[in-house]
Amino acid sequence: MKRILLTGAAGEIGSALRDGLRAFLPNPHTTLRLTDVRDLGPAREGEEVMLADLTDFQAVRGVMDGVDAVIHLGGIPNEHTYEHIRDVNIDGTYHVLEAARLSGVRRVAFASSIHTVGNYPREVIGTDVPVRPDSYYGVSKVFGEALGRMYVDRSYLEFVGVRICSFQAQPQDARHLSTWLSPRDAAQLFARAVTAPGVAYLIVAGISGNTRRWMSPEGWDILGYVPQDDAEVYAAQVQDLHGNPADVTEQRQGGIFVDPAYIGLAGKEP
Ligand SMILES: NC(=O)c1ccc[n+]([C@@H]2O[C@H](COP(=O)([O-])OP(=O)(O)OC[C@H]3O[C@@H](n4cnc5c(N)ncnc54)[C@H](O)[C@@H]3O)[C@@H](O)[C@H]2O)c1
Repeated sequence: MKRILLTGAAGEIGSALRDGLRAFLPNPHTTLRLTDVRDLGPAREGEEVMLADLTDFQAVRGVMDGVDAVIHLGGIPNEHTYEHIRDVNIDGTYHVLEAARLSGVRRVAFASSIHTVGNYPREVIGTDVPVRPDSYYGVSKVFGEALGRMYVDRSYLEFVGVRICSFQAQPQDARHLSTWLSPRDAAQLFARAVTAPGVAYLIVAGISGNTRRWMSPEGWDILGYVPQDDAEVYAAQVQDLHGNPADVTEQRQGGIFVDPAYIGLAGKEP
């Protein structure tokens, strides 16, 4: 593994991986190529910085040259208008996978989401249940997983979809006791997702080793992911921080996203 491309590298998770990924890579001399539409600052040692807009296929092709694996984080991380989700998350993910195929990239790890299955009740489910997306955002992540499946079957690409639940420095509310993914566990999980041998197509839960998890850990053993954190240590601080238990948003996994009136970032950002 000589070069890993991180899309969305200026974002919350991208920044955490920029700092923490290398510690979990078998080859510490792997080059991290960082891309985003936003400023990434100067390249540090072992980094390359290349700006690109995911909606521009030629720009995405331009950052893919010489890349062995991609961690695809770039996109709208919330609900938005259908059109914006389509342009960035759906078309953008197609651009990444198609450019990866054309450049002979071996593996793509995709930042999928709990919102692929957000309308399930709050009980443990596997990664093989039929999808129940709770938003256009969730649908875009279902699309990414399906596109990955197609590329694995029709090309030499390998694909790991990580259904990230709640990436936070620490849990902020009671729901996070089930859904939290800590920064160091995110770094370990994505490092394993791009380097574990013998994986063609896999979908895994993107959470820490939470005692109260709603997603089963199948596939973690295949990747060799052994979480170091459990949200339970924060239980006393956050377990009383929740809404009305009678509300649908408190009964289903997707939380606020399952409210039909929830529009996320629509109207707030371009
Ligand atoms: N944070 C979470 O808890 C969580 C949960 C589930 C899934 N995810 C997914 O993980 C990924 C990263 O999430 P995050 O929390 O770091 O979000 P973020 O918004 O902090 O980072 C996303 C990055 O994508 C970039 N981006 C947006 N549009 C772009 C475009 N057109 N071209 C190039 N880059 C573009 C943004 O500039 C940003 O830096 C997203 O795909 C998100 O959907 C996050």
